[in-house]
Amino acid sequence: MNCITYPFNPLDAKGWKGNLTVFKLNWRDIRPLMSHRYHLPPSAHTTFVASGFVICTFVPRPIESDPGALKVPFYHNNDDYDEVIFYHRGEFFSRDNIHPGMVTHHPCGFPHGPHPKAFAAGAKRVKAETDEVAVMIDTRMPLDLAEAAVATEDKDYVKSWQTPPTA
Ligand SMILES: [Fe+2]
Repeated sequence: MNCITYPFNPLDAKGWKGNLTVFKLNWRDIRPLMSHRYHLPPSAHTTFVASGFVICTFVPRPIESDPGALKVPFYHNNDDYDEVIFYHRGEFFSRDNIHPGMVTHHPCGFPHGPHPKAFAAGAKRVKAETDEVAVMIDTRMPLDLAEAAVATEDKDYVKSWQTPPTA
């Protein structure tokens, strides 16, 4: 494998035109977009946009401090995208029972948002900052699950928003 290293950040550009290529971006080099008064939608954390999909990277950041600000993501149902999130490290502030190494897949149209315990903790502002690192891929085309994914699926995940949580 050939490896080309630049002595500067090649993303520090206003645009890009050229061939597709393999690219590695360290999440530690991403400065998160933040607002102390408003919970920013996931698209604010977009790192790559391509034809048919976007990639968002969630990195540690301060949690909203304004008393009136929502501290957790709002409920939504992805009318246009399948949503896959890989949880890399940290404590995932908007979810219960999600641990590093896990992957979630929310098909287009599936309503979801913070889990009940996370929603309650967010309302009390238990933490001042998130330490989570996760990567999300939203795809315009529906995804099919490979056999390996089906074999490891947590069949109760879909029930995890019930109160009290069952998963
Ligand atoms: Fe979502």
